[in-house]
Amino acid sequence: MSAETSEKTVAVEWPTGGSGVARVAISRPQALNALNRQVLDELAAALSALEEDVRVRVIVVTGAGRAFVAGADIGEIAALSSGASAEAFSRAGQSVFSRLASSRLVSIMAINGYALGGGLELALAGDLRLMAESAKVGLPEIGLGIIPGFGGTQRLGRLVGEGRALELVLTGRQVAAAEALRLGLANQVVPDAELSATADSWAAELAAKAPQALVAAKRAVRGGWDRELADGLAWEAQCFGGVAATADAREGTDAFLHKRPPHFTGH
Ligand code: COA
Repeated sequence: MSAETSEKTVAVEWPTGGSGVARVAISRPQALNALNRQVLDELAAALSALEEDVRVRVIVVTGAGRAFVAGADIGEIAALSSGASAEAFSRAGQSVFSRLASSRLVSIMAINGYALGGGLELALAGDLRLMAESAKVGLPEIGLGIIPGFGGTQRLGRLVGEGRALELVLTGRQVAAAEALRLGLANQVVPDAELSATADSWAAELAAKAPQALVAAKRAVRGGWDRELADGLAWEAQCFGGVAATADAREGTDAFLHKRPPHFTGH
């Protein structure tokens, strides 16, 4: 086993006190956090562990060093010896990212540098994208003679529209933060030095919401996106029904009516 494979490539900081917020750092900085199988496996394991811990409601995902994630590991892609093994590689990445997208955890992607290829695909699977001013995103796979395989050809268009997605997938060009914001790819852009504090403050704001409402809100939007409107509305009503009967829903509405701040307990 090489020195690299024995080192952890995903670092998790668990919540302190009752914050409800954990931080996940992709940490393979010598390769700009490129996603090899080890990183994908560790990310999947980290997500499982975080989901199992009821203290955690929100995660902030970022990259160690100067990149968020500079893509899937090109060395591993080069070694794929058949269409079948490449398809399996694609499915493996997709499965980890889909797990993040459908997780009960709300994720804030703090994009601190290059988010290219699999890095942008990871960011697209997250719920909110906060970008540092100097960060760049893009799907450069076309330049390698391949295409995105971890969800990029599907999730990008759903976020920014088919025309923009085609442009970025076909050209492979890198997009600076200001343009990413205009495209709706980034929710907000902040000076590099403020990325971490802003992500923390978003996370704290979300973690203070009624926990079941937070999950229901994510599930309603995520689970309804690809449905016909009537079906999506039925899904929304189901999610609304599930959350409106909670003690926190009674607390939130009562607090409003009595002009006091709510105190949510998660029940
Ligand atoms: N897979 C494997 N290794 C990668 C990588 C990737 N996706 N992206 C970067 N690295 C490695 C480089 O090979 C280099 O390793 P070395 O120091 O052993 O030579 C190290 O990370 C630093 O990268 P480097 O290219 O020297 O940094 P840079 O600042 O000059 O350029 C990028 C940064 C992001 C523009 C450039 O690394 C790049 O184009 N990466 C590939 C992006 C890509 O095509 N992603 C999609 C993959 S499917």
